[in-house]
Amino acid sequence: MLRPKPQVRVALLGFGNVGRAFARYVEANSDTSPVRINIRAIADSSGALFLTNGPSLESAIARKDSGFSVAAFAPEHLIAGAHEFIRALPSAGVSVLVETLPTNIVTGEPALSLIKAGLEQGTDVVTVDKGPVVHGLNELKEAASKSGSRLGYSGTTGVTIPDEIAGDRVLEIRGVLNGTTNYILTEMQQHHRSFDDALATAQAEGIAEPDSSLDIEGWDTASKILILAKSLMQASSRLDQVSRIGIGPQTESLIRVARESGRVVRLVGRARIWQRRVRVSVAPKLIEADSPFYGVAGTSKAATFRTEERGEVLSLSRSGRDAISQTILDDIIRISLQA
Ligand SMILES: NC(=O)c1ccc[n+]([C@@H]2O[C@H](COP(=O)([O-])OP(=O)(O)OC[C@H]3O[C@@H](n4cnc5c(N)ncnc54)[C@H](OP(=O)(O)O)[C@@H]3O)[C@@H](O)[C@H]2O)c1
Repeated sequence: MLRPKPQVRVALLGFGNVGRAFARYVEANSDTSPVRINIRAIADSSGALFLTNGPSLESAIARKDSGFSVAAFAPEHLIAGAHEFIRALPSAGVSVLVETLPTNIVTGEPALSLIKAGLEQGTDVVTVDKGPVVHGLNELKEAASKSGSRLGYSGTTGVTIPDEIAGDRVLEIRGVLNGTTNYILTEMQQHHRSFDDALATAQAEGIAEPDSSLDIEGWDTASKILILAKSLMQASSRLDQVSRIGIGPQTESLIRVARESGRVVRLVGRARIWQRRVRVSVAPKLIEADSPFYGVAGTSKAATFRTEERGEVLSLSRSGRDAISQTILDDIIRISLQA
């Protein structure tokens, strides 16, 4: 006899592109998932709602797609504050909060305080938001360990940390971690485009944001490599201490050098031990043809983890429209099946 799948009640804090894509993905993949995800509550910047008091999930997605905010769905049941929403989760049987708020790269707030409140009360949290993790990973882990809750943040690092390096000492991490800049560099290299042209194409194709400064100035890569370094190498640097060179028109001369010498340029985040400290940096680098990063073109991402026992282990990221939804789902499954 087939055993029923474990059911996980989930609340979505953030009902924008990623929140709604995840909700759709869960509905579309319910047959193949080893757990049954039941999305019970949603929140956007207008407020929060338990779906038992409002529209079905499908109808909530459709209404939000057409420009309505959560506050308009069932105003009489609206929970105005995000902290109040989080406090209401345990009594509704919600065990996992999925946080997809816009990233605040400067302080991580308000997501940092909200995630911490969830973890402190025993609610597991899965986040794809780099800000709170890069600024508060240690305090979030401490909050989780005090209450026995769990934090999943695989969606903040661009690549998945390979299971096989668990317990091994990590000596160095290098990664092509930002799809937007990698796409721009690939366009410049393969199609002889200027930086401005390649950026305009990336924006026209919806790959780059209209304001892509966090990507091209290297902040996104810096956040991801620092989160990896904090997770695996006990790095203690702050984000503003990461040595960071982004890409721009000045990268065109490096692209020419690469083309003339059979190499390519990638924006590489690196964490390594130097003078007994973990140093974290981001810069465009010339990549040789025998490097695992040579073939990582377009919006693809990859990282190598050099460890004491296993040597160099490569992690290639999933790419494609559903990648972030599957990453969230994987974190929820991992957390739920550990219970
Ligand atoms: N796009 C990707 O592939 C990708 C990949 C990895 C990670 N991420 C990360 O995922 C996160 C979300 O990205 P997105 O593209 O979904 O952003 P988005 O479309 O702007 O959605 C953000 C959602 O958060 C809501 N929100 C904002 N402030 C809030 C508050 N104080 N309380 C409650 N809700 C609030 C917004 O409400 P309104 O709808 O009312 O504005 C919106 O529903 C970001 O941190 C991003 O870096 C994205």
